Amino acid sequence: MKAPTISPLQAELINLHPALVDMRRMVCDGLRKKPRQLPAWLLYDTEGSRLFEQICEQPEYSLSRTETALLGKQAAAIATALESGVIVEFGAGSARKVGPLLRSLRPAAYIAIDISSEHLQESTNALQRQFPEVPILGICCDHSQLDALPDHPLLRGQRRIGFFPGSSLGNFEAKEAIVLLRNFRKLLNGGPLLLGLDHPKPKERMVAAYNDAAGVSAAFAHNLLHRLNHELEGDFDLDQFTYRASWQAEQSRVVMELVSKCKQLITVAGRQWLFTAGESLITEYSIKYLPEAALALIAEAGWDGVQRWHDPANEFSIHLLKPSNCTAKPKAATNEPSRATSQNQARA
Ligand code: AVJ
Repeated sequence: MKAPTISPLQAELINLHPALVDMRRMVCDGLRKKPRQLPAWLLYDTEGSRLFEQICEQPEYSLSRTETALLGKQAAAIATALESGVIVEFGAGSARKVGPLLRSLRPAAYIAIDISSEHLQESTNALQRQFPEVPILGICCDHSQLDALPDHPLLRGQRRIGFFPGSSLGNFEAKEAIVLLRNFRKLLNGGPLLLGLDHPKPKERMVAAYNDAAGVSAAFAHNLLHRLNHELEGDFDLDQFTYRASWQAEQSRVVMELVSKCKQLITVAGRQWLFTAGESLITEYSIKYLPEAALALIAEAGWDGVQRWHDPANEFSIHLLKPSNCTAKPKAATNEPSRATSQNQARA
């Protein structure tokens, strides 16, 4: 391949979005589960990505604001700790969080990975105009299914720095989260990972964050049915499903679901599905980790928690992870859970 051809106004985009046949299979697998549950990335079509941006602006949903402020405040310290290389962001969305890092770290390139291609093209173009000196590449794919980064001139021979903000790890159940973090370790090829995680908060606050008064969270979930209707020949009646967000203390997670108001037969993805009255379709989990719990999971996935930054109220953590040296599969529960300190800006 020849040298990268990046114009300062248009970021390059590689589209690896799952094909419709694969989506159909994943939807069928999810609808067969008990309870029924669809992969969270399906929420992010163009409209879903737009609605998610709107969720981030709701007064009840403080997560994004807290993390953005923290990244802004600690950008210099984080950039120093990360050192130089190419930043690879998993689930970049609007790519609005990486700005302070681009400014402080001046990476060789910025690679934004996201499932929503139109949204990704718009956000990388906007960022490219803002940072004409940083080569930007968008990759549209489901990062949980990615087994290698494409062989691209911007990545070749460069140290890789992973960036996984937004507490998006919380979408994955513990087992899947470990698989995902192990996979990131492989993709990053020895480089570090910067991971943003939201902490558990009082139940009322968490439920409100995922069920805002303006109804944007509900619209976000309902949009999934709309998407299935359009892309997989579905006939969901959106009015016949109620959105619900609840806190499951034992699993430390918010569960978001669409509950069938009545007994109804749905056609989608070439099959018929009988929903009983009150039957739920889980659209998403949002697991909330205390820093100690997060570090135990992180260790199991082959990473060391090296440093942690948090906001003044200690509601959100940004962890700096480095691959642990042991090549053998680390066992659960043998790791010291509190290696990183809970001090703001402190070292482990
Ligand atoms: C993008 C997965 C971090 O769990 O807080 C927000 C998604 N869904 N409101 C979250 C979400 C509904 C969000 N993550």
